[in-house]
Amino acid sequence: MSKKVNGKVIDALLKPQSIAIIGASNKSGKIGNTIVQKLLEGKYGGKIYPINPKDKEILGLKAYPSILDVPEHVDGAIIAVPAEATLQVVDECGQKGVNALTVITSGFSEVGRTDLEEAMVDKAHSYGMGIMGPNIIGILSNSEQMNASFAPLLPLEGKASLVSQSGALLIALDMATFTRRVGFEKLVSIGNMSDVNFGDLVEWLDQDEKTQCIALYIEGLKKGRHFIEKCRAARKPIVALKAGISEHGAAAAASHTGSLAGAAKVYKAAFDQAGVIMADSVGNLFDRTLAFSLQPPMEGDNLLVITNGGGVGVLASDAAEKCDIPLKFAPKDVQTELKKHMPEFGSAKNPVDITGGAGVDWYYESVKYAYAHKWVDGLVVLYCETAVTDPIEIAEGIHKAITETGLGKKPVVVSFLGGERSDQAMQWLVENDIPAYDAPDKAVCVLSGLRQYAKICTMDNSPFKIYDHVNRDQALNIINKVRTEGRDALTEIEAKQVFAAYGLPVAETRLARTEDEAVELATIGGFPVVMKLVSPDILHKSDAGGVRVNVKNADDVREGFRTIVANAKAYKSDATIIGVAIQEMAPWGTEVIVGSINDPTFGPTIMFGLGGIFVEVLKDVTFRVAPVTNKQAFAMLKDITSGPILDGVRGETRRDQEALATVISYYSQMISDLANEIAETDANPVLVYGEGKGCKIVDARIILKKK
Ligand code: ACO
Repeated sequence: MSKKVNGKVIDALLKPQSIAIIGASNKSGKIGNTIVQKLLEGKYGGKIYPINPKDKEILGLKAYPSILDVPEHVDGAIIAVPAEATLQVVDECGQKGVNALTVITSGFSEVGRTDLEEAMVDKAHSYGMGIMGPNIIGILSNSEQMNASFAPLLPLEGKASLVSQSGALLIALDMATFTRRVGFEKLVSIGNMSDVNFGDLVEWLDQDEKTQCIALYIEGLKKGRHFIEKCRAARKPIVALKAGISEHGAAAAASHTGSLAGAAKVYKAAFDQAGVIMADSVGNLFDRTLAFSLQPPMEGDNLLVITNGGGVGVLASDAAEKCDIPLKFAPKDVQTELKKHMPEFGSAKNPVDITGGAGVDWYYESVKYAYAHKWVDGLVVLYCETAVTDPIEIAEGIHKAITETGLGKKPVVVSFLGGERSDQAMQWLVENDIPAYDAPDKAVCVLSGLRQYAKICTMDNSPFKIYDHVNRDQALNIINKVRTEGRDALTEIEAKQVFAAYGLPVAETRLARTEDEAVELATIGGFPVVMKLVSPDILHKSDAGGVRVNVKNADDVREGFRTIVANAKAYKSDATIIGVAIQEMAPWGTEVIVGSINDPTFGPTIMFGLGGIFVEVLKDVTFRVAPVTNKQAFAMLKDITSGPILDGVRGETRRDQEALATVISYYSQMISDLANEIAETDANPVLVYGEGKGCKIVDARIILKKK
């Protein structure tokens, strides 16, 4: 937590001992009236102090003209006065010794009044107070019986807490807790996040004994790395719905990496690194939250599905494959035992089809046996309503089988398809701690989340160890020289010098300003060579006819030099042409790309993928917020669809993945060390050779941040 936003501040927001409502009103329909009314209706146990300049009493409570007139200490204050009155009110709260402020008021940074918002935070901090909001609907806590908001009711009681950046959505979800039967302990509206942010709340809720699962609705994070750090340290499942992940805007970037790095991919990478499970819709957020609130993680991959309908069994099987927990046939002993609880024409493989005639006894016996069996890591029980069975009885049978074995030992989720009786049965199951869903794919999907969470719990969290034998100063000198020349793009040769300062294996490349120099350098280095245009104004050299490969002798070098310069002039007549780079002709290897962007939320972020000229078409890339350890870099190689190419295909030997992981890890330190300078980079292609033979970066690009 930041210095100002400490545990005491969040205690005063989420479980205050006493509350003042500044802007409390007797006028029905006003927010200041509703909040007092909701605190009273919820039966909040602390003292409530309405503050109003004129009225002596509000909704039966003694009111005070100013918080300074309240005789006792006040722990938290809710501010519901117009924006222009807030600074004075914050000042009075500070004088009064209030610990934290819930600022309901709108009209700050969301409408361009960042100055007013910053002034409010500065004032609050000068008194050691923290701020939730502004522009929020408030905070609801079942434990405190505190509806400190203008939402109609405290949510259905439960074991999850939800933090939402959208106030309106929070109110809607609050009401949906009753219809969806997903209970919450706390609902927190976070609004403009002028002070308290997502990371602070994750840290606090992780310590809250009433919260088992943390649910987040995020539109945009303010402190991305702080968020990752707090989520990674949390010991509770965190599920997040991120809105606004369209790729809009990414195409304008100058590098391949920049054009491939959309918000969705970077957020996905950051959430993965943070151990946050992504929901893809509001419904999915609820579904997952319910499962995390009630069920343990799934410790292994063996999922067993028991069903009375073949069709829903197949749907579950499809969903399992889609969600990365594909069904496997149950072992022989499991099949033999389960066969005893179904007719001859049933199937004990997996899905286990106990058939349409299955009554409560067959459900009870098969669920009990399967749940207790050590091969089964997670159980999905499906039921289609029939005329020969009663959904309520089936639900009770399932519940009995589970509780007799020991509910909570491993995850179990249920899906009933049918009418009103099935809905009632599912409601009863949820009330009795077994998550139930109205579709088999939803049940399987949440179970896959429980599996994902088990993997998160064993995720490698080892810190990045800084490589100290790199030459940051040398890299900075090159960058500074480029800046003094008024450029923000390094030439390929300069970019390779920066890479080399970080120990990266670049193909040897020298600048020839004249034809004669070109011949001399090629002769010294040895033929064949590659020749490439060096111009700060032409970044995509191939497009300008600025590249010649496999140039075998001095005459061809001369001819190549002239042609490249002529092509560049024809491509861009006013381009500055520094010369032609003479590069060693690296032997062929598997082409990959390593690159980076400086993300506005998460900072330096590294990309790895299948490289070469088709990279932007194939888009087979993966991202990580930098820096990454060697082990994490290695995991990136396995992330991409074409990753198996590196294992060796079509008679090729395994590629030197260790060397490649080392390149990615060093690269990630380079972009982190130089984060204040570098906007985007590409190493494309990086040629990866056979085992023990390393890699070579044959083309390099660095774009600097505009200063
Ligand atoms: N100290 C104490 N009371 C004060 C002070 C003060 N310094 N200044 C004003 N008041 C009183 C007023 O006299 C008034 O009381 P009254 O009704 O008895 O006259 C009360 O505070 C409210 O002041 P008003 O000027 O009447 O302001 P109003 O209630 O119209 O609006 C509000 C205040 C609600 C904070 C408004 O400015 C606002 O920001 N509304 C939007 C809030 C919102 O929607 N937030 C959530 C966004 S998320 C979402 O989308 C759902």
